[in-house]
Amino acid sequence: MVFHLRPVTSGLMATALLLMTALHALDAHAQSAILEGERFHPEQASHGMVASSHTLATDIARDVMADGGNAVDGAVVAGFVLAVVQPRSGNIGGGGFMLISDENSDDVVAIDYRETAPAAATETMFQNEAGNAVSDWSRYTHRASGVPGTVAGLALALDAYGTLSLAEAMEPAIRLAEDGFKVPPRFAAGLDEARDRLSAWESTRQVFFKEDGSRYRAGDTFRQPDLAATLTRIAEHGPREFYAGKTAELLVAEMERNDGLITMDDMAGYEPQIREPIHGTYRGHDIYAMSPPSSGGVHIVQMLNMLENDDIAALGHNSASTLHLMAESMKRAYADRSKFLGDTDFVDVPLSGLTAKAYATHLRDQIDPQHATPSDDIGPDDPWPYESGETTHYSIADDNGLMVSNTYTINFSYGSGIVVDGAGFLLNNEMDDFSAKPGEPNAYGLIGGEANKIEPGKRMLSSMTPTIVKRDGKNLLATGTPGGSRIITTTLQVVMNVIDHGMNIQSAVSAPRIHHQWLPDEIAIEAGISPDTIDRLEAKGHRIEPTRAMGAAQSVMVDAGLFLGGTDPRRSTSKAAGW
Ligand code: GLY
Repeated sequence: MVFHLRPVTSGLMATALLLMTALHALDAHAQSAILEGERFHPEQASHGMVASSHTLATDIARDVMADGGNAVDGAVVAGFVLAVVQPRSGNIGGGGFMLISDENSDDVVAIDYRETAPAAATETMFQNEAGNAVSDWSRYTHRASGVPGTVAGLALALDAYGTLSLAEAMEPAIRLAEDGFKVPPRFAAGLDEARDRLSAWESTRQVFFKEDGSRYRAGDTFRQPDLAATLTRIAEHGPREFYAGKTAELLVAEMERNDGLITMDDMAGYEPQIREPIHGTYRGHDIYAMSPPSSGGVHIVQMLNMLENDDIAALGHNSASTLHLMAESMKRAYADRSKFLGDTDFVDVPLSGLTAKAYATHLRDQIDPQHATPSDDIGPDDPWPYESGETTHYSIADDNGLMVSNTYTINFSYGSGIVVDGAGFLLNNEMDDFSAKPGEPNAYGLIGGEANKIEPGKRMLSSMTPTIVKRDGKNLLATGTPGGSRIITTTLQVVMNVIDHGMNIQSAVSAPRIHHQWLPDEIAIEAGISPDTIDRLEAKGHRIEPTRAMGAAQSVMVDAGLFLGGTDPRRSTSKAAGW
């Protein structure tokens, strides 16, 4: 089967976009009035919705589904397309998590395709002789890479829940890698920002710079013949090609030339896992989010449990009282994260305790509504600067009752910055998500404990939080975001904006956000929170740190049978489209 892009201005699509734009500024009541009015009839154009961080991924996934594919087909197609058109985070050299909800069978499953530590990895591999963690080693070397999980994870999802063959699902990505695509301004700017890292390795230079060494500019055509050949091999021979065929040989040769650790045995031994997602409830809604090795599900449920003790709707969206309760809940959740969270295949994590309503009430009782509790009184450590996180999320829903929430990553923008020579894809630097030394912060300032120490075969702790919300057994919302440590709090705010504040999905995604992660002891705050709110928060004892935009929460929602998309304006290439 070959899928062709439809013109973006098709009638149904234009109607959906018009609706999304119109709904953006309206409250829930006005929104329902429009949905029930004459301008839009759900039966005309409401079969599904895709929201992703790239227009091509959205359009192609939407077309695959409009041509008879289901939401999982769309999700797998989008995953491979993003690996080509958005190489800063879309990937086959990384890993991630996919939540799939089938409301017909009332099942929600979590596919864990997180990277694993190679067999030769050791607890102290990123420490120097003095026993100090050396961050460059866990970020910018071949040893920074875990065994990639994306190809196995996407193939598993397709096999278990999709309708397309792997070759069909990969065809659009192969075509884009072969023929190329027009470079959007965000793509050119990203390459520019990362040019020092991308020019450090010859194999990376060959992909991300022109033959004469000059930079790609917006409007240029970007082709990736080595990546096209790699994707073609996988499409022809199946996912094992990546793990035991020529692609694995190229990756392992890259490791051997550069003191890396991943071997053919590590590659052949990689297995994605189907896990039970974390489940909680919030004001009558069912919340499903990613279980360990992600910390996201545990802590979004823990924070919602704390916040359920207060009437957040009455306190108001982004009021000082609401933001204070949110920041205090975030601090306590991230303090617990530093101690308890790790890969449950290796360590015991008290999941039921951390997500219990009674425990949340106990934590809520420690929150003083008038005064911030200093982080040092919750748990001790040193502040650490933020760095940007680059991951990518997309959400998809269809009228077969399927909803998909997928987040995947190579960690930083462009991962380790190292392209596998001859295979054309970037290697992740996910080993930095382990605790290089328990108690030391990682690139996101997150403190990890013994539970997240490096062990062979173990999955490094993640914050990725693909989330699905159901109401009365029906799929309501799929959301998630990139953003490193801020992923969990960004996702929290989208969920609260919908449930507590009755926002339409676009407003819920666009609204200004805050973030607190216990250490450093400050509320990171986006532009758009009013100065008098900030004054009130400071009067309660909070330190406020203005920050650039946080996250890119691509979200879809089903409301009265109507599919709505909320795409994050914080990414210029974002797009939601339905049919
Ligand atoms: N690499 C970011 C995360 O998994 O949380």
